[in-house]
Amino acid sequence: MKKTALSIKGLKVRYGAIEAVKGIDIEVYEGSVVALLGANGAGKTSTLRTISGLTNAAEGKIEFYGKDITNMDTEKIARLGIAQSPEGRQIFGDLTVEENLKVGAFTVKDRKIIQRGFERCYRYFPRLAERKRQMAYTLSGGELQMLAIARALMSDPKILLLDEPSLGLAPLVVRDIFEIIKEIKAEGTTVVIVEQNALQTLKIADFGYVLEVGEINMSGEASVLIRDPKLVEAYLGGK
Ligand SMILES: Nc1ncnc2c1ncn2[C@@H]1O[C@H](COP(=O)(O)OP(=O)(O)OP(=O)(O)O)[C@@H](O)[C@H]1O
Ligand SMILES: [Mg+2]
Repeated sequence: MKKTALSIKGLKVRYGAIEAVKGIDIEVYEGSVVALLGANGAGKTSTLRTISGLTNAAEGKIEFYGKDITNMDTEKIARLGIAQSPEGRQIFGDLTVEENLKVGAFTVKDRKIIQRGFERCYRYFPRLAERKRQMAYTLSGGELQMLAIARALMSDPKILLLDEPSLGLAPLVVRDIFEIIKEIKAEGTTVVIVEQNALQTLKIADFGYVLEVGEINMSGEASVLIRDPKLVEAYLGGK
């Protein structure tokens, strides 16, 4: 039996008069990779931020392993095992790579788990290991993105929320990032990934949702979506 990690029902997000998310339902099974796709302004980031408690839900319910987390305090949500790697990265430039990773482990007291976190991050991203004492502002864009993902992993989350991890990266780096997301899944972490890069994302995802101006207009198994003529037309470059 598949276990539901995250369940979103009837979620609405409003910014003043703007309804950015208009009542969406999303279900994420434990151990799966779920893709949230859609054009600019579709409501993808708003959805992720609402799961993390950074933005309030106007209506609807978000449950994490059956527990209602709707509009719960961000820190409490993090402690339950939800970590987000934000769009735009938000790394502390004047801290070293290692110090930034330590910040990601703020919910963890057990030194062994923190140690395992460092090992996991440096195994996924050897480049970060080589640069652990380097100030974060000196990192390249790709390295910063790696650091943002690694920092989110440091809390040893049950579920990792990734907001556009491939944004602005060179194709080879993008390929590395997607390979690592596969490994993260293989090690048992559930992943929700927001991406514009629909084709590559669907290749590593189990399930996908396509958001269009705040509504889900398509959803299904990633292997089916990837062949859907409508999706191919709209997001996969008509290939
Ligand atoms: N803090 C805010 N105040 C007002 N409007 C906002 C705010 N944040 C987002 N919006 C609006 O809500 C809508 C959805 O934005 P959101 O960032 O969730 O989209 P997105 O799918 O992540 O887009 P992108 O692919 O460009 O990152 C947009 O129209 C945006 O302008
Ligand atoms: Mg966004």
